[in-house]
Amino acid sequence: MFRFRDFYKNEVQLSFRNHPFSKDPRHVWVICRYDNKWLLTKHKDRGLEFPGGKVEKGESPKEAALREVMEETGGVIKKIQYIGQYYVAGKAGHVVKNVYYAEVEKLEVQDTYYETEGPVLLEKIPRNVKYDNKYSFIMKDDVLTYCLEKLNFPHM
Ligand code: GTP
Repeated sequence: MFRFRDFYKNEVQLSFRNHPFSKDPRHVWVICRYDNKWLLTKHKDRGLEFPGGKVEKGESPKEAALREVMEETGGVIKKIQYIGQYYVAGKAGHVVKNVYYAEVEKLEVQDTYYETEGPVLLEKIPRNVKYDNKYSFIMKDDVLTYCLEKLNFPHM
């Protein structure tokens, strides 16, 4: 279990165990690879981030992960694995989010990418991501750092 503060100084707990904070998390985040690159989306307000969002009624978290990746990038997932779960104690309440690692087999062009501008492919996630205002706050805490380490990707 890891504890740290996020970009907004909210307390975060991250664990690689099996759903330690909630069996029924309401949020998902998906670290994606496509064509030997990182697949992100450009959120209109927050900037570059891995795709994700809320689990809808009647959906499992994994189904939400597949849907969010499609909606925000057009990515069709060929393989997905649960990595861990994190808990953010926000000012207005808490969030529990499942993190997945996914391999995308193709990108289908979408009519809309919802609140994003669609897919962005990156060879590398820059080392200074925490200080780069092109990137979303979601990319700026140690959830990303620990998950990439866990996945055995050389850091950034
Ligand atoms: P809407 O219903 O879409 O308006 O949601 P919301 O604005 O209430 O946001 P949400 O429920 O997604 O998250 C509430 C708060 O939790 C956010 O303002 C963030 O402070 C925090 N939060 C959500 N997701 C993350 C995340 O992935 N990482 C971190 N560090 N904080 C997050």
